[in-house]
Amino acid sequence: MSKGIVVVGGGTGFIGSHLCSLLKSRKFDVKIISRMPGPQRMTWHDLQQTGLPAGTTAVVNVAGQNVLDPTRRWTPGFKQNVWNSRVKTTAALAKAIENAVQPPSVFVSISGVGIYKPSRTAEYSEDTHDLSDFDFLSKLCIEWEKAGNLSPTVNCRHVAVRSGVVLGRDGGMIKQLYLPFYLGLGGPVGSGTQYLPWIHVADIVRLITFAVETDGVKGVINGVAPQVITNKEFSDAFAKALWRPAIFPLPEMVLNLVFSEERAKMMTQGQKVLSKRTQALGFKFAYPDIHSACQDLVNRALKKSITYEI
Ligand SMILES: NC(=O)c1ccc[n+]([C@@H]2O[C@H](COP(=O)([O-])OP(=O)(O)OC[C@H]3O[C@@H](n4cnc5c(N)ncnc54)[C@H](OP(=O)(O)O)[C@@H]3O)[C@@H](O)[C@H]2O)c1
Repeated sequence: MSKGIVVVGGGTGFIGSHLCSLLKSRKFDVKIISRMPGPQRMTWHDLQQTGLPAGTTAVVNVAGQNVLDPTRRWTPGFKQNVWNSRVKTTAALAKAIENAVQPPSVFVSISGVGIYKPSRTAEYSEDTHDLSDFDFLSKLCIEWEKAGNLSPTVNCRHVAVRSGVVLGRDGGMIKQLYLPFYLGLGGPVGSGTQYLPWIHVADIVRLITFAVETDGVKGVINGVAPQVITNKEFSDAFAKALWRPAIFPLPEMVLNLVFSEERAKMMTQGQKVLSKRTQALGFKFAYPDIHSACQDLVNRALKKSITYEI
């Protein structure tokens, strides 16, 4: 028997498609919101016109224009797309929840660890409350989370998942890095001493599903693996899983040139982020350490298998 409909904004993407598979395997019906119409989909315009489908029990937003698209220059127009695709889609879903005759019981929206200021000494967790908008990306994360806040009169939990870099064979950072590392040309970014908050794709979608299914979960939870690592530790682990060296550092200057400094900061700087509350709530990571995560990514590439039965 169906556990109800989960509406997933951005369900066609890297995280979204893994999430939809997991939700279906857990007997939810899934309705994707996409810019493109199609079967089992609605568009953002449909949402505005007709609201949430009857029988919606949960809403998730994982939509967002790819910030690190190297083919797109960091122009004011592109930044506006990056902003609207996160803040406006989240706000549209919040509004649809508030207007629903029978609101869903939970709204999970993704956000990023870019809300925490890069630092080599500070340690951040969900208990860190003195957050300020120190650059475009932090301002974006703050407004993105705020857009998901619901009126207190609506009986619906809001969960904001602050995700680290998501590691999976078929998307995000690993998709870009696989070939250079496979060819033995990989290495850390810059000095490699900057932190790299990360999570395996199977864990981010399990965490979102945990937030959907677990009644007591609300507020901010960090989507980062328990093992805190630096960029160099990631490069070493990934290269080792591929039986390759990791001796070619990627100079910071190159990234600044390709992406512009404001965007390149996502790779050249990092934060030490802990998922204290996520773990205290009882969530168990399937890939808590970088070695098991990288080994899994490489095994799946060899087997040409990217789906996770959980
Ligand atoms: N991947 C990571 O490492 C990571 C880490 C932290 C946070 N996040 C956040 O998680 C979300 C999903 O990431 P992802 O890696 O799965 O991204 P993705 O593969 O690029 O997919 C994102 C989805 O968002 C929709 N989208 C793209 N541009 C849009 C626009 N201008 N307006 C409305 N919708 C748009 C697309 O759906 P349609 O084409 O069907 O409309 C796309 O399938 C993003 O918001 C991202 O910032 C990702």
